[in-house]
Amino acid sequence: MSALKLPNGPRIPPLIQTLEWMAHPLEYMETCAQRYGDIFTLRIGPVFTPQVFISNPQVIQQIFTTDPKQLDSGEPAGIKLPLLGKQSLLALEGKPHQRQRKLLTPPFHGERMLAYGQLIRDITEQVTSQWKVGEPFSVQSSMQVISFQVILKAVFGLDEGVRYEKLKEKLIAILNPKRSLLRTLTLLFPFLRRDLGPWSPWGIFIRTRQQIDELIYAEIRERKQQADSSRSDILSLMMSARDEQDQPMTDVELRDELMTLLVAGHETTATSLSWAFYWIHHLPQVRETLLQELDTLGENPDPNTIFRLPYLNAVCSETLRLYPVAMLALNRVVKSPLKIMSYQLEPGTLLTPCIYLTHQREDLYPEPKQFKPERFLERQFTQYEYLPFGGGNRRCIGMALALFEMKLVLATVLSRWQMELADSKPVQPVRKGLLSGPSGGVRMVVKGMRPQNQRILESSLS
Ligand code: HEM
Repeated sequence: MSALKLPNGPRIPPLIQTLEWMAHPLEYMETCAQRYGDIFTLRIGPVFTPQVFISNPQVIQQIFTTDPKQLDSGEPAGIKLPLLGKQSLLALEGKPHQRQRKLLTPPFHGERMLAYGQLIRDITEQVTSQWKVGEPFSVQSSMQVISFQVILKAVFGLDEGVRYEKLKEKLIAILNPKRSLLRTLTLLFPFLRRDLGPWSPWGIFIRTRQQIDELIYAEIRERKQQADSSRSDILSLMMSARDEQDQPMTDVELRDELMTLLVAGHETTATSLSWAFYWIHHLPQVRETLLQELDTLGENPDPNTIFRLPYLNAVCSETLRLYPVAMLALNRVVKSPLKIMSYQLEPGTLLTPCIYLTHQREDLYPEPKQFKPERFLERQFTQYEYLPFGGGNRRCIGMALALFEMKLVLATVLSRWQMELADSKPVQPVRKGLLSGPSGGVRMVVKGMRPQNQRILESSLS
């Protein structure tokens, strides 16, 4: 018997499949998994290319370990992000991708992240000091401000000033467009990208992007003129990195990677933090256990000690498991014939490791809809069973920064403030562009300072 070409999947027209996926991606993928199992084909997106969704750890292992010559991501896999540019790590494939990753990996190494501990704490304290006792606020908005500032200061290395303010304003405008549905549609359907003047959605996008580019290139020029070897921000490290031919990154590469790091790292971290705040306050037992652990640390604990706290780690892991902000890993495109299970896949087929469905497997995570940090204390999962940061040659380069930031922000806020959810209704996940996040942005209220902080404040004032 000859091998099957593609796994089964819904037979409804591709346009309906696309609309179903856009309207409620998690439910749609779950329905397909119930009907077709842990490997199925959907036809969604701009040209309805068959896309094989996979939530089987053995197959995910095969995907993450296949040579990128045979299976890779980047532009050929349909990843075209006009804000990021052609030299973006996300758009590149093959040798150029490998080169760029080698240059970017050392600045993001786990140990290096400790250098940003004080900065993250200062930003968190500055943003949360604006909260007013008794007034409901959106946790998601506060977390967006924190993660945005962490990237501008730790990654771009910007100090507050005129350029910082201008860049912040333009980046906020481009990342949170007024008509976000239109923007999502232009991202999904490239034929909608037409510059119909300075007031049209695409016209606004192009002009704002140009202003951002001018600001970034001005910063790069200035850094080159006033080289300072003591700087520890990621842009400075990228500028001093050399490839195997002893060549530095070009200005265009630096610009494209900065935008990539901002886009890939800002919303993802803020959304994951918002979910963490939600679960910690939705489940009193989780909050209690976490506070007990944090209270063992004493005043001003070292960031490395916070990073290693077992229960805090388990809470972050479970947050990223239950509703992973990246529902899917990046698409991989088959470049030469590939056998997967009983299927013989032709070049051009898209493979999508489905992070959400893998994290919902009953055999790995009993009662998968329940938030249970203990699972991560009781057993270890392989990188093909638990994959909030994807894997293989595409594994998230910002993983160490994201986890470090999540833990430091949570420890800083929870040790200081007593908070509660503003609404007792359970929060549901919704699609936000290409990501998934809590509906309504998690509204909370600050009740006051935690008693021990109040005591410390009073004794320092007396
Ligand atoms: C909780 C926060 C984050 C989550 C859940 C997350 C998740 C992911 C996932 C799932 C991928 C695709 C991996 C694959 O397809 O195998 C990815 C790629 C990537 N992430 Fe993250 N990410 C987060 C934060 C960050 C941060 C803070 C940065 C940088 C500042 C970052 C930079 C990147 C980059 C550059 C890539 C592309 C890697 C490549 O193509 O080689 N991410 N991330």
